[in-house]
Amino acid sequence: MPDKHHTFWLNFLLLHVMMASVTGEDCFDHRTLSDKVSISYTKLDLSHCNITRLQQSTFRKYPNLQILDLSYNALEELDFSVFQFHTALRKFDISHNKLRTINCSTLQYIRGITHLNLSYNHFKNTFLCKEFAILTKLRYLGLSATRIDRYDFVNLAHQELETVFLGLEHLQQYESGSLQLLDTEKLHVVLPQTSMNTTPLYNDFNISTTLELSHILCEETCDLIVEDIDKIIQKSKVSKLILSNVTIPWHGMVKILYISWRTTIEYLSINRFSYTTRSFYDHIDFSPGSIKSLTIENVIPQDFLFSSRKHPLNIFSEMFIENLTMSHSELSHFPCPPWPSIFQSLKLTNNKITDVIFTKCKTLPNIQSLDFQNNVLERLSSIASMTSTMKSLKYLDVSGNRLYCDFRTACQWSQSLLILNISRNKISDSIFNCLPTNLEVLDLSGNQLSSVNNGINHLKALKELYLSSNQLSHIPDCSHMSKNLIYLNIEENIIHSPAKEQLSKCQHVKRIMAGKNKFQCNCELRSFIRTAEDLHESLIGWPHSFTCEYPQDLKGVMLKDFHPSEISCNIFILVGLIVGTMVVLLVFILFLCKCYDLPWYIKMIFQWLRRKYRIRNNNNEEAMMGKSFHAFISYSQQDYEWVTDLLIPNLEKGDNSIKICHHIRDFIPGKAIIENIIESIEKSYKSIFVLSPNFVQSEWCHYELYFAQHSLLGKNSDHLILILLEPIPQYLIPNKYSKLKAIMKHRTYMEWPKEKGKHGLFWANLREAIKANIPLEDDDIYVFN
Ligand SMILES: *[C@@H]1O[C@H](CO)[C@@H](O)[C@H](O)[C@H]1NC(C)=O
Ligand SMILES: *[C@@H]1O[C@H](CO)[C@@H](O)[C@H](O)[C@H]1NC(C)=O
Repeated sequence: MPDKHHTFWLNFLLLHVMMASVTGEDCFDHRTLSDKVSISYTKLDLSHCNITRLQQSTFRKYPNLQILDLSYNALEELDFSVFQFHTALRKFDISHNKLRTINCSTLQYIRGITHLNLSYNHFKNTFLCKEFAILTKLRYLGLSATRIDRYDFVNLAHQELETVFLGLEHLQQYESGSLQLLDTEKLHVVLPQTSMNTTPLYNDFNISTTLELSHILCEETCDLIVEDIDKIIQKSKVSKLILSNVTIPWHGMVKILYISWRTTIEYLSINRFSYTTRSFYDHIDFSPGSIKSLTIENVIPQDFLFSSRKHPLNIFSEMFIENLTMSHSELSHFPCPPWPSIFQSLKLTNNKITDVIFTKCKTLPNIQSLDFQNNVLERLSSIASMTSTMKSLKYLDVSGNRLYCDFRTACQWSQSLLILNISRNKISDSIFNCLPTNLEVLDLSGNQLSSVNNGINHLKALKELYLSSNQLSHIPDCSHMSKNLIYLNIEENIIHSPAKEQLSKCQHVKRIMAGKNKFQCNCELRSFIRTAEDLHESLIGWPHSFTCEYPQDLKGVMLKDFHPSEISCNIFILVGLIVGTMVVLLVFILFLCKCYDLPWYIKMIFQWLRRKYRIRNNNNEEAMMGKSFHAFISYSQQDYEWVTDLLIPNLEKGDNSIKICHHIRDFIPGKAIIENIIESIEKSYKSIFVLSPNFVQSEWCHYELYFAQHSLLGKNSDHLILILLEPIPQYLIPNKYSKLKAIMKHRTYMEWPKEKGKHGLFWANLREAIKANIPLEDDDIYVFN
């Protein structure tokens, strides 16, 4: 997934970088986009790309295209069949090209179109061919013209349009009544800048209820233009008039306001208004007229300089209208009306309004809605006391200011206030000690809150509480909050490990948004996750916006998919498991010891390893000098069978690698036994003694043992090997053989195992003990010198 996203954004970026360039065809290089990415595109901006020709192949990659902007290119002809497979295409802007004709027969291919902008091309006339009637979904049509003839729009006569845009800057000729064929809610006209007779045209602006006039321009004497507008207004039946891109002297604008005052116009909007002279106050009677709502936006220059006694903005504050908007105009002030106004709504957004606004202003008794979004307000106490005189105020938006809490004395808010938006300010926790008590909606998102204190519990009517993008580390305690609370937003805070209880306390809240927090996915979070799953219907954004932030390796994993094992989270289970495992292991070891004699095996292997190690270290040639046998065997006659049947065959194995000195075979007849014994021991590398109760009884055996122990080479204490064939109780050993007792006590001996299975290891071990490189010498020469 991350890869896919990565390429998507990469391509997206690439696309935008390329679109920024204006060098012909490579403005947008389609080859760089993978099909997978392009298929998801619904919107394509190819404006300013110097495109001269459209090809079907260009758009084939974007089968889901809905919005296509090809404005400001160099297209001369247009064949809509290029889009025959783009049935989703809705908005198509091809304004500011060089089109001369439209291939009308291909209009059927864009039958689903709702927005079509053909303005500012090189069409000779505005006649719309009969195929336009196919475009039954059309709501917006943009055209421009140098001449308009009587029946140009006849083929659209039955279409109910929303907006028709007509760029008529260069209009030379207009045939009266032509526009009457259009049926549209809004007509937007860029007024002609030519010297033609405009009367027939203006008379036809009465076709819509909303009229927008653009490009109203004059420098000094503007009587003509004001007269024109007067004519248009008087003739039309518009209820909403919008004037945009207006450049006229201040008094011209005031005059337009005045002539609009008692007409059909209820809503007047002046957008992008620059005045060419100084602003000044003029006393004009703006007592109640038709206009209910006035909007003035983007005023240039944005400083209302004034030379007269009264501030020019008093013109507006004295007006008897319901709603006034003045935004994006850098206003630093707005005067308190000199008499009780009928203002219901004042919107002074995106200005430079400061704390002194409406201080002690008692003339706004009807004001219901105040919007000071994005200004430079600072002290919340000033704003609170400002509202205290506004008995009808229900809605206050002071979002996007620099407000901080500075309450020292009792806080005074208008008690009528229901909706308060203080988002994106510098509000701290003390806000909860001073809030209008009847609030229903409180937006405190984007502030510096670290906790929600009990003050919130006084808001008994609170329905919606917005606390997103703060510094909250816990879910606020909902249990004492208003019982009417239906919406709580605590997204994008720093809640790491929310407790299950905190969430359950908010159970009565119908919609809770708590996602996009930095959740720490550990065992403690499990009960929260379970509660969250139970409450998922009211938990908006579950599960997608609830993801782990820590630990790093779980980042991005949805809480829903976080399932730590029961074992890793429960300390009792964990301890139990460890103890249990140990017990089982112990029992197993005991069982092995008991049934399979494990210690014996371990001992044998240990001995074997030790021998191997010693052989490696001491197997020097010198020690081997004069040796003819690997081992001499001493045993009691009673154990004869064991020695000849098992011991010798198993050691010698018939491969001559080990030679055993066996008295029956290797003693020299005629020699004294003692001599034989001594010689044999000395010629052997090791001496093996087969110990058993019988051995203890045998005198000879004792001799042999004695000699072996004292032999010249006996310094190497390792050359004695004792095999305990049968256990010998200590009492069996006669006292005179204290030597044997001592040997048996201090030397380790090899026990002959009774179990057949162990025999193999026993023999291997024994062979290893006596293995050595005996110099291969001829017996005849060496034996018995
Ligand atoms: C004026 O504002 C009030 C309150 O916001 C609103 O209810 C009313 O519809 C508005 N009137 C007009 C004419 O826009
Ligand atoms: C508060 O104002 C902001 C704009 O500053 C807006 O996005 C938000 O939706 C408003 N809050 C409410 C509850 O309407």
